Amino acid sequence: MKILHVASELRPISQTGGLGDVAAALPQAQRASGLDAQVMTPAYSGVLEKVKIDGNPIELGDLLGCGPVQLLRGQLSEQGVPLWLVDCPALFDREGGPYLDAEGEAWLDNALRFAALSLCAAMLAESGGMLGWKPDVVHAHDWQAGLVAPYLNVRNPNIPTVFTIHNLQYQGCFEADWLEKLNLPSSLFGVHGLEFHGELSFLKGGLYYSHALTTVSPTYADEIRTAAFGHGLEGLLTARSHALTGILNGIDMAQWDPQTDPHIAAPFSAGDLAGKAACKADIQAHFGLDQRAAAPLLGVVSRLAQQKGLDMLPPLVPALIARGAQLVVLGTGEAELETAYRSLAEAHPGAVAAHIGYDNALSHRIQAGVDMLLIPSRFEPCGLTQMYAMRYGTLPVARRTGGLADSIVDWSAPEPTGFLFDTPGMPGLKVALHRGLDAYYDQQEAWRAAQRRAMGLDLSWQNAATAYAALYARLLQGA
Ligand code: ADP
Ligand code: GLC
Repeated sequence: MKILHVASELRPISQTGGLGDVAAALPQAQRASGLDAQVMTPAYSGVLEKVKIDGNPIELGDLLGCGPVQLLRGQLSEQGVPLWLVDCPALFDREGGPYLDAEGEAWLDNALRFAALSLCAAMLAESGGMLGWKPDVVHAHDWQAGLVAPYLNVRNPNIPTVFTIHNLQYQGCFEADWLEKLNLPSSLFGVHGLEFHGELSFLKGGLYYSHALTTVSPTYADEIRTAAFGHGLEGLLTARSHALTGILNGIDMAQWDPQTDPHIAAPFSAGDLAGKAACKADIQAHFGLDQRAAAPLLGVVSRLAQQKGLDMLPPLVPALIARGAQLVVLGTGEAELETAYRSLAEAHPGAVAAHIGYDNALSHRIQAGVDMLLIPSRFEPCGLTQMYAMRYGTLPVARRTGGLADSIVDWSAPEPTGFLFDTPGMPGLKVALHRGLDAYYDQQEAWRAAQRRAMGLDLSWQNAATAYAALYARLLQGA
């Protein structure tokens, strides 16, 4: 079975968050289980230097008045997953991130940029093999690939499409007059179609026109059908319940393996945790924290965004420090939060440190070195960092929502792997943090057992790969 994933970011060439991890790891797992999974993604600035290009470019011409577009075939050397790179210098070859310019503002032509990505995927799917390969199923991810299904609806509605919601908050809404510029017929613009409150919504396009919808955890699939989590789309999602399933993400168990991780100070395993102490000392030294082996070391590795609930943490930190805890933060995002964590570090030298930026190697070192990882998200479609944490014997402290609820077992249960809180807001987080410290100090044996249990979990992509394969098979049978 041939599957084309369409994703706007991909580890390690253009990652900004969890989507980039999934776009690389899921196809790799699918290939390992015998599917021919390939990925289409934009050739952003710098990408072509990191990819091995095979064969000649496929010229698609000037698709949407954005200059010549070509498809390049390549491979990520690490994973061996075949790539289709959408090469359109006018849209993608510019300094800045995949979505934002150097000042942190969304690119003004994002509608055009990601419509071009979606249109290329639709063209490959309906090419009947003329372009060298033809997917049986097109699997689009998040709003940036939201127009794949609408374009196919116009061109060939029988080609099976899957749309995965990684985050319903980002909707890709643009002024209605983009419709014409994107070559979409006005008949698609309505409540039963692409329109969302008078605007053109890429996300709604994916949700409305795709044959099957998935989210990245079962709990999030339920949550998004309620007003509290649905971002106004709960009605449509409820109406499409029969097409919607939640499939929990996995993690790349080879990239994230404390026994072989080249980034960390010393290897360790569930059977021999000694190396984790060296990793903790490494983090304390790197961040200039007091070298106290027994101090509970808390960590954050996150986008600094409203979603992640990290605005609730700073006021709680002095009480944690009073109990001997330390905190390291690795994150980037909203300016206010970046400033809050810089100030917190300045106010508590030796106990709190922050690295504002994106640093993959450092994220591995933190996961290996800290005792607890804090994830107080307001909502969390899946969340990967709690799974990385558990794999490294680091117990997560997290809100019981979305994929966090589906992957962490609270300390009150017979076989815990972390600490969960229900009540949104600071009081719930405060209680969970202090429960964590209590357990760390007073229940060392149970703590070790929880670490070993967490490290022994099967967090691989195998289950998800099997579930997606069954879904594709159902679509191909027309069920
Ligand atoms: P989200 O996709 O909502 O940001 P996830 O937990 O699914 O959340 O995925 C986040 C991914 O991004 C993880 O791989 C995490 O390690 C990585 N990450 C987030 N912030 C940073 C950072 N500042 N430096 C390095 N890696 C980061
Ligand atoms: C999104 C979500 C996150 C999820 C990731 C990968 O970025 O915010 O919860 O883990 O996608 O699916």
